[in-house]
Amino acid sequence: MSSIATQLIHWHRKHGRHHLPWQGNRDPYAIWLSEIMLQQTQVNTVIPYYVRFMQEFPTISSLAQAPLDTMLALWSGLGYYSRARNLHRSAHIIMQDYQGQFPDTRELIQRLPGIGRSTAAAITIFAYGKRDAILDGNVKRVLARYFGIAGYPGESKIQNLLWEKAEESLPANYREGRIETYTQALMDLGATVCSRHTPLCTTCPLQQHCVAYKENRVAQFPAVKPRKPLPKKETVFLILMHQQKLLFEKRPPSGIWGALWCPPEIEAGVDAAIYCQHHLGMKVQSPIELPTIDHQFTHYKLRIHSQLLKVVSNNHVQQNQFIWIKPSDALEQAIPAPVRKLLKQNFLSDDRAHQYLSSN
Ligand code: ADE
Ligand code: SF4
Repeated sequence: MSSIATQLIHWHRKHGRHHLPWQGNRDPYAIWLSEIMLQQTQVNTVIPYYVRFMQEFPTISSLAQAPLDTMLALWSGLGYYSRARNLHRSAHIIMQDYQGQFPDTRELIQRLPGIGRSTAAAITIFAYGKRDAILDGNVKRVLARYFGIAGYPGESKIQNLLWEKAEESLPANYREGRIETYTQALMDLGATVCSRHTPLCTTCPLQQHCVAYKENRVAQFPAVKPRKPLPKKETVFLILMHQQKLLFEKRPPSGIWGALWCPPEIEAGVDAAIYCQHHLGMKVQSPIELPTIDHQFTHYKLRIHSQLLKVVSNNHVQQNQFIWIKPSDALEQAIPAPVRKLLKQNFLSDDRAHQYLSSN
């Protein structure tokens, strides 16, 4: 057996994580949910969301039956909402195509939206005890360092090499529970010992054969993406205020912040008062500029300007995609992180909020 597996399994007994809420459980649904939540989010952040989610939606069918909006509200704050939308879509697919039974091979699981090879493998390992390799971001880092693989892991040649190493490193499958323990150990080592910025090599069970450590080149692995600066975009939120409430609009189901609630948005340079009159049927007082908020997406940076507009006369035709809501209640809805920040900064903390709300 490879020495990496022996060392990791031994290390895990004392130093791995053993009492996470999704452990000790072979329900593929529960494991699937945990793996999706853990995709871009750390364990400590995920735990309370996972527990609430399992209480609210204990089965695939309860998730499939829930309105998307209810589910997104429960997800609110975890970010990367496409994960939640894909979970919901997958639950429907499982109900329709698999009679509500979670598929039990990696190939089938991988066909569900939002599930790549590594996540599908993690589910088959933890739910069904199948021998398979994972390769998430943490594992890429550990293997790149241990085997001294230079090159950017996002490049397919390097990625293929890492998959080969991941497969070669698996424990032999002659003892029950080994593959699960090994997989959890590899995840835990990546999260706690072989961390990106402060790897604890002196206490690492792999240090003896770790190429990066032996050559004193740990910081060079994994190679970073050769990157261009992100493009910058700007937008303007209209914070319309009427009788202590703010206007929110539900965004279209796809695109940024899909199906989440946001203030109405205009392009920079458009006159807010004219827009309000023509498109929303409202007369407003002259705008008050709120502080800008910067938000980074994967592919660009967004600077959000916000104009606070007090509504003087409201002939707005009420439609389903709009709601008037108090700032504190808006926080309970499915809203994106920068909108949450905007509300907290301007309407929920200090006397500024009091000033805006009481002068209406
Ligand atoms: N990250 C991804 N999957 C995980 C798991 N099952 N336990 C801890 N961290 C993880
Ligand atoms: Fe990571 Fe250091 Fe362990 Fe190598 S010795 S696997 S670099 S923590």
